[in-house]
Amino acid sequence: MSPLIQFKKRPHVDRWLDGFVPSEGLENDARTGDMTGLGHILQPNTIDTTHGDILYIEGLTVRFDGFRAINQLNLYIRAGELRCVIGPNGAGKTTLMDVITGKTGPRNASVEGRVFLGQTIDLLSLRESQIAQLGIGRKFQKPTVFEAFSVWQNLAMAQKGERGWMYSLRHRSDQALETSLDETLARIKLLPQAHQLAGSLSHGQKQRLEIGMLLMQKPELLLLDEPAAGMTDEETVELAELLNSLRGTCSMMVVEHDMTFVEALAGESGTVTVLAEGAVLAEGTLAKVKSDPAVIESYLGR
Ligand SMILES: Nc1ncnc2c1ncn2[C@@H]1O[C@H](COP(=O)(O)OP(=O)(O)O)[C@@H](O)[C@H]1O
Ligand SMILES: [Mg+2]
Repeated sequence: MSPLIQFKKRPHVDRWLDGFVPSEGLENDARTGDMTGLGHILQPNTIDTTHGDILYIEGLTVRFDGFRAINQLNLYIRAGELRCVIGPNGAGKTTLMDVITGKTGPRNASVEGRVFLGQTIDLLSLRESQIAQLGIGRKFQKPTVFEAFSVWQNLAMAQKGERGWMYSLRHRSDQALETSLDETLARIKLLPQAHQLAGSLSHGQKQRLEIGMLLMQKPELLLLDEPAAGMTDEETVELAELLNSLRGTCSMMVVEHDMTFVEALAGESGTVTVLAEGAVLAEGTLAKVKSDPAVIESYLGR
């Protein structure tokens, strides 16, 4: 029996792990398009979500000098899902994103468990730059746009392309780029500001621009760390509209404190995960987790 199969806990995961033999060849399979033990032909860098999950995290423990920032965490996110993650300060939310994006990994920290993108890509075996290539986009708390460039230029520079961003800036007539830019500008509601310097935008507009920059890279999974922090109520509503409009185009994991914002994203049926002390404290609809006594004690009641 392979080590991976011994980890199985959920019936639908068991089925796809059957016959799967993890090895050092795993990383190669994902990149070269080889046949895997699952019987799928993988194209380079394609994420195999045929069994439903885009993110599969099991038994994840991350230690900093012996302190467990993440403690035996299990988290499964379905392809296409918009998952809200809430939890008190220090719960391990940002550390979780650091692990998914490879900023924190076995190379620079004590990390145990499994973190898979789709069913075949072992994120713990990859470097940060390789993970970025796989289509995981991350939005940090503070907007990081190029203030001295226009909104349009920021988006052009962000687009993923073999020719690089200098080409994007010089060749304004590239039709595919124009179309993609216009679509993104409309989606992030910054068409009127297209030729304004990014430095002159409001905080909320900068946040939307940064999300637009991530969208130019056509992400499969977007991780957003407290994107509504510091926003006005109106900006928060606009951000929720933007993220809701992205449903169906990519999967998202949104860490947030603002409960009105979480409510706008999760609705009545969306799954909300509550993290506390590095583990999942509760999971379910917002109404369900809000009424959970453990959640009230650890977080909401504070
Ligand atoms: N690089 C690090 N070194 C030591 N401790 C860290 C490091 N990163 C995070 N921590 C600790 O891990 C815990 C979780 O932090 P973090 O993931 O930032 O929580 P959250 O984002 O939920 O507020 C905190 O106690 C924090 O101090
Ligand atoms: Mg944080």
